[in-house]
Amino acid sequence: MTVLISPSILASDFSRLGDEVKAVDEAGADMIHLDIMDGHFVPNITVGPDVVKALRPLSKKTFDTHLMIAPNPAYIEAFAEAGSDIISVHPEPDPHIHRTLQSIRNLGKRAGLAINPGTPLEVIEPLYELCDLILVMSVNPGFGGQKFISASLPRIEHIRRRIDDLGLQTILEVDGGINAETAPKVLAAGAHALVAGTAVFRSGLGSYREAIDTLRVSA
Ligand code: DX5
Ligand code: ZN
Repeated sequence: MTVLISPSILASDFSRLGDEVKAVDEAGADMIHLDIMDGHFVPNITVGPDVVKALRPLSKKTFDTHLMIAPNPAYIEAFAEAGSDIISVHPEPDPHIHRTLQSIRNLGKRAGLAINPGTPLEVIEPLYELCDLILVMSVNPGFGGQKFISASLPRIEHIRRRIDDLGLQTILEVDGGINAETAPKVLAAGAHALVAGTAVFRSGLGSYREAIDTLRVSA
């Protein structure tokens, strides 16, 4: 399976955000991961739909938008209009997650379900058919640069089995603490899309291309 790399702008230089998006696009990123935090669902604040809209003309790559906001429904339309291609939402703050996922597809976008490390996997069971992507958080959301939680690996294996048993093509993406050491483990567990902030933007390697290729070849 082809590995998709989605650099997270959270670790980029925010004073040069547009240039950073162009740079990872040119360096071979498959998607651009946009972390949207509201200071309420998670203890950090990033950017809103206007910033996504401003970035949209700078890259043709898939805008992989990860909403860490509560409530979810209030802003789905705004992110769809801003040019997000995938909109991932968390079930934890959302009493109507089924409806929210449906509404993302109704807007012509791909629907993603993001789950925290402590969220029971049973939550996904009634939702598989509604998900174009499942985003397994391998850190607690809110900040970049955290340590990979290895208890995520059996969770990824379980979700991979369920996707295959159901005959679905759902993208299985992992987010948090991904680097050259953890990437092979999550890929072996059955993921094929990797979000990486620190390991792309602050890798210490010579270029973003080298950082992205390093993650890709760890498959
Ligand atoms: C955390 C975000 C991640 C974060 C990953 O809440 O969802 O996308 O940017 O950062 P790294 O790759 O540094 O763990
Ligand atoms: Zn994210």
